[in-house]
Amino acid sequence: MKKMQWQNNLSVGIEPIDNQHKQWIEYFNNAAEAIAARQSRTQIAKTLGFLIDYTELHFSTEERFMSGSNYAGLQEHKAKHDELRRTLANLVRDFEDEGITSRLAEAIDIFLGNWLIQHIHEIDTKFGAFVRENKVVLS
Ligand code: FEO
Repeated sequence: MKKMQWQNNLSVGIEPIDNQHKQWIEYFNNAAEAIAARQSRTQIAKTLGFLIDYTELHFSTEERFMSGSNYAGLQEHKAKHDELRRTLANLVRDFEDEGITSRLAEAIDIFLGNWLIQHIHEIDTKFGAFVRENKVVLS
């Protein structure tokens, strides 16, 4: 599997969000590595749990920032978050039902990794630009 690396071009220009993205990538890598290495079911469940909990923390943080700054793109952005929330819930259900399958390993490694990077590049950066252009103070 290809380990995801934080790069400066992923910065959205909002420090707390950049820091969360770095941690998020870490949790993603841990889960993808555990699955690729076919670690124990308990270990994989643990890494997936960390990934899901952190994803929720991160999405909630961004949604709070967007809501608090009256960002017009909130609903569109939140719809993308909800899409991933559903995908993760489905992946966990598949894992609980069938354990690690090739389909699940591929979904984590390719789909989820690509989704995450694409989302930061294409969606999160729009909010970053809004914050900078409007000199929004986030709280
Ligand atoms: Fe950083 Fe919109 O997730």
